[in-house]
Amino acid sequence: MSDRVVLIGAGDVGVAYAYALVNQGLVHELSIIDINTQKVTGEVMDLNHGVVWAPSPTRVTVGSYDDCADADLVVITAGAAQRPGETRLDLVGRNVEIFRSIVGSVMETGFDGIFLVASNPVDVMAYATWKLSGLPSERVIGSGTTLDSARLRFMLGELYDVAPSSVHASIIGEHGDTEVAALSSANVAGAPLSRDLESVPGRREEIERVFTDTREAAYRIIDAKGSTSYGIGMALARITRAILRDEYTALPVSTKLHGTYGIDDLFIGVPTVLGRSGVKSVVELDLNDAERDALAHSAEVLSGVVDSTGL
Ligand code: 2OP
Repeated sequence: MSDRVVLIGAGDVGVAYAYALVNQGLVHELSIIDINTQKVTGEVMDLNHGVVWAPSPTRVTVGSYDDCADADLVVITAGAAQRPGETRLDLVGRNVEIFRSIVGSVMETGFDGIFLVASNPVDVMAYATWKLSGLPSERVIGSGTTLDSARLRFMLGELYDVAPSSVHASIIGEHGDTEVAALSSANVAGAPLSRDLESVPGRREEIERVFTDTREAAYRIIDAKGSTSYGIGMALARITRAILRDEYTALPVSTKLHGTYGIDDLFIGVPTVLGRSGVKSVVELDLNDAERDALAHSAEVLSGVVDSTGL
């Protein structure tokens, strides 16, 4: 079976994602759409010139909305991005308007695949995509807290001197300022973090600092280089692999909850099992009281923003 992805948005995030896809040989066909035809033409040429060294060939083309008709996955990275000093939530008005046009154009083609959304505020934009597309919620996925969890795992790996792949920890909730570190269920190579939090002097403060650094990472990167791109590009490639290879891997993406964690009718980041048909199931972590309260607060904030869009 041939895997076809359409990417909408050839900005920093879209191009980093495309580069990760090509480098990892994850799909057979990648069509890229952008309103800036000159830029997208250059990006496609540049990507194609690396295909010879990829583990398997990807056919990369400048796309049009017609390509969505038989795409397996449409990935949206288009829209306004944070400028220094802006929060993700500040983008909502501009990006909902942009999404009305993008999602409408995709659906006019008869698209019947899966949407993967990365534009911010991603939980609200995933909700908007679900609402505007009319697709079942299992087939609309936001990148959620996958990147935040990767940041946390990287920093905990540094602290413990262990590869991040051996750190099992999730950030859940809003991909943004109210996100929550589910530390009560975290472990480093099987050893529970909660044990160290209680028994190792100074460890609680160190881990609180790691969480603060995780939550603030995007602001620091945006101040330093204008945007974040490689981390989210690789996170999107990981989600793409889980979906297209029908992996049943659990990743903390933004998914629509129907009562799990006491949350209903909202897209929010929680560990979610992904496969070829999209969301297979949601994993309910055993949260402590503080984490549960923090997640409820995060959901309340997101819900207020969703309501303000009138969707
Ligand atoms: C990030 O966390 C800005 O949402 C983007 O890197």
